[in-house]
Amino acid sequence: MVKIAILGGSGYTAVELLKILLRHPQAEVVAVTSRQDDTPLVAELHPVLTGRIALRCEPFNPDGLAARGVQCAFGCLPHGVSMTTLPALLERGVRVIDLSADYRLRDPNVYAQWYGESHEDLAHLAQAVYGLPEIYGDEVATAPLVANPGCYPQTAILGLAPLAAGRSIDLKSIIVDSKSGISGAGRTPKLTTHFPECNENFAAYAVGNHRHTPEIEQALADLAGEAVEVIFTPHLVPMDRGIFSTIYVTPHRPMTQAQLTELYREYYRNAPFVRVVDHLPATKHTTGTNFLDIAVRVVRDRVLVLACEDNLIRGASGVAVQNFNRMYGFDERTGLFG
Ligand SMILES: NC(=O)c1ccc[n+]([C@@H]2O[C@H](COP(=O)([O-])OP(=O)(O)OC[C@H]3O[C@@H](n4cnc5c(N)ncnc54)[C@H](OP(=O)(O)O)[C@@H]3O)[C@@H](O)[C@H]2O)c1
Repeated sequence: MVKIAILGGSGYTAVELLKILLRHPQAEVVAVTSRQDDTPLVAELHPVLTGRIALRCEPFNPDGLAARGVQCAFGCLPHGVSMTTLPALLERGVRVIDLSADYRLRDPNVYAQWYGESHEDLAHLAQAVYGLPEIYGDEVATAPLVANPGCYPQTAILGLAPLAAGRSIDLKSIIVDSKSGISGAGRTPKLTTHFPECNENFAAYAVGNHRHTPEIEQALADLAGEAVEVIFTPHLVPMDRGIFSTIYVTPHRPMTQAQLTELYREYYRNAPFVRVVDHLPATKHTTGTNFLDIAVRVVRDRVLVLACEDNLIRGASGVAVQNFNRMYGFDERTGLFG
């Protein structure tokens, strides 16, 4: 059994992690940290866990966690907070899976440009592995610190990986048009996610400057071996959860539908959580699962990729457990299938 701590216990990704880890045969959650007053029971913060966990939340205390033998911590904290919180655990030999964006971008200058603040933990940034298991899985296995990938980027990167790796598309004219449910913004209330603001409403946001743009470009450039430019436009849709991305690319040479489908099937042959489907995917087909569904179509000599996932599972907590499984040598599917 691997002893686990979850940090930022009151949030959405924390509760999804708890749901998965409490049924994981090799995981033992020994601590849930939170800033909440009066150390509430975890099940008081998340009534869905009533009868499943007896732990109380506790303040973050890295010495105490290390003394109790915590081996792996999941950081479910906002970006900016992670990079000032997690070093204390890493320095005590605890392996960390960080769900925030703090360790995803290798270049601290790119982080400063897109996140508007300097990176404060360059030492651990240099050790971090980008935790998209289908692409960086071998490095994840030995990493002290895994930077769990963003929710939108996974649909874009896995949606384009077979084409980027084969350099068979124009890498400077990629368009990623994405829609997300409101839980993508987390449990902390904000005006833009207040019910009357977003119910019966549909709107784009962060046009041309969403922070997931450099993350998508970094991974696609790794695959292609050259710089990539993406126009990424996110939208908020009035549903609880789910992300759907429609991606438009121009192939260098015309492809048939059969060639395109075969390329994707072959690329993801050994990826249990990426389903290349014939039908048009829909967010509800992936709700509550760690699957990322992809359909591909040739339309007027362009290629369209349609990719969707549950933002809280595949987009965050499910892929975090997939990474955990790889880090500790368990079957990648443990706790996530069934
Ligand atoms: N939501 C998604 O779909 C999604 C997908 C991929 C990645 N992520 C990333 O995962 C991380 C967690 O997201 P989430 O959706 O779980 O957010 P959330 O629901 O807002 O939860 C974050 C938790 O972090 C703690 N926290 C907030 N501010 C803090 C501060 N200043 N200092 C210390 N702790 C603080 C709070 O827990 P306590 O009050 O218990 O301390 C809060 O509940 C974020 O970095 C987010 O970008 C989210």
